[in-house]
Amino acid sequence: MKIGFTGADPLELECEALVVGSFSSEGVEDGLLKRLDEALEGLLSEAAESGSFKGKEGSTLLLHRPGGLPSRRLLLAGLGKKEQAGPESVHRLGGMAARRLKEEGCGTVHVVLPEGRDGPEEVRTCVEGFLLGPGGLGAYKTGEEDRPSEDPYRGSFEGLTLVLPGEPEGEQREAARQGEIVAEAMILARRLVNTPSNRMTPSVLAREARKACREAGVTTEVLTRKKLEEKGFGALLAVSQGSSQPPRLIIMRYRPAEKEQAQRAPLVLVGKGITFDTGGISIKPSKGMEEMKADMAGGAAVIGAMTAIGRLKPPRPVIGLVPASENMPGGSAIKPGDVIESYSGKTIEVLNTDAEGRLVLADTLAFAVEQEPEAIVDIATLTGACVVALGHVYAGLMGNAASWTERVRETASAWGEKVWPLPMDPEYDSLVESDIADVRNTGKDPPGAITAAKLLEKFVGEVPWAHLDIAGVEWRKEGSAWVGSGPTGFGVRTFVGLSLL
Ligand code: BES
Ligand code: MN
Ligand code: ZN
Repeated sequence: MKIGFTGADPLELECEALVVGSFSSEGVEDGLLKRLDEALEGLLSEAAESGSFKGKEGSTLLLHRPGGLPSRRLLLAGLGKKEQAGPESVHRLGGMAARRLKEEGCGTVHVVLPEGRDGPEEVRTCVEGFLLGPGGLGAYKTGEEDRPSEDPYRGSFEGLTLVLPGEPEGEQREAARQGEIVAEAMILARRLVNTPSNRMTPSVLAREARKACREAGVTTEVLTRKKLEEKGFGALLAVSQGSSQPPRLIIMRYRPAEKEQAQRAPLVLVGKGITFDTGGISIKPSKGMEEMKADMAGGAAVIGAMTAIGRLKPPRPVIGLVPASENMPGGSAIKPGDVIESYSGKTIEVLNTDAEGRLVLADTLAFAVEQEPEAIVDIATLTGACVVALGHVYAGLMGNAASWTERVRETASAWGEKVWPLPMDPEYDSLVESDIADVRNTGKDPPGAITAAKLLEKFVGEVPWAHLDIAGVEWRKEGSAWVGSGPTGFGVRTFVGLSLL
């Protein structure tokens, strides 16, 4: 899709669709809305007075052939209260434009950035919103063969033109490029997550990662079961042993071309890649189990982020690691009470086979430490307890080094992802103490999200490490005026932001 800019006066723009955001507190008394209202002979103030469009967040008003304007359509998009608005308002503006106009069959859409909201951050987030807005879920519906070119995860627009006062600066052009690259990476992550587990096995996930990384200039290495056995990835192998699908460890490496940059210690990203989580012998109830196809959302975020990183070329090496496995019951599955030996050499007592994410992560974090990283971040749909704590709004953030955890929090927030810290004080250490092995994989009591993180902490040594529990935010149950339901692609933006630091 072509993304461009224009400094033209919106009232004189000849285009297919002109999109203008409207804050609810704004009225039509001044600025662009007032000029539009005059051109439309008071139509907008009438709409506001009658209550049919007052700028309420998510509300829209679409006019065809708006008299007095050369544009073929005018779409007003409600942005809610001005006082509460941030960069996410512009993200939503982009999303509303795309969602409302995709049904109209528009080729190119012109979006006017609200006054004073045309800086690089807003440009980036508006582009993201526009590209992510139209995506849907029904990728496996037949009978739509007449539209073969239509990708269900994106719109079919030809172009997006941002309308701002004057010519765009280099910074704004770069921001638009960033927004497009990041949105493409999120679309990739969403597609991987939405794909049912029979079509997204560990080996398929590895193949998809390899293909996407090749196109982005990121090198990939995939460890198959034999290699994992040789190297002693005991926990990853233990989780996979109940399944007929062999596990994979997906290793993705980005290195800057510039020598000095290439010599920096890498940032290592680790994403849980359980392509289906039945719970294993500690089997889950059947109600809602289908949602566990999304238990590789952390891994998908890492794969997506690595493709964006390959394109944005940040000034430091980044390594992405995804342990991929199914968690199945079966004749050779691990059983409660089993003691396994992890890659680090530490033994783990498996009290609940449904606490499998922390097992595959334990091995991968120990492997991450061997890469001599500057810092590690892992991301995982790890615990239902985190959903109890934070619901579907914030991801849980834990770690072993306050300064790194804080950096992750700030970066997430700057890139539009909500994460909230949970404590990791030493008083919680006893949660993972085992009588029989070095550690146990579940505690007896709450807090579940911290217990899982405490287990992970045992495998990262002294390296600054942060952990994102995305069990509550990886999937959006209900869509809105600016985005559809389904996988969110959570984590991609934070990782891209961290790589650019
Ligand atoms: N993948 C689940 C966590 C999960 C739950 C993700 C709900 C998304 C939505 C994880 O592997 C799991 O089963 N965790 C258990 C841990 C328990 C056995 C200690 C849980 O949270 O119930
Ligand atoms: Mn589980
Ligand atoms: Zn799981």
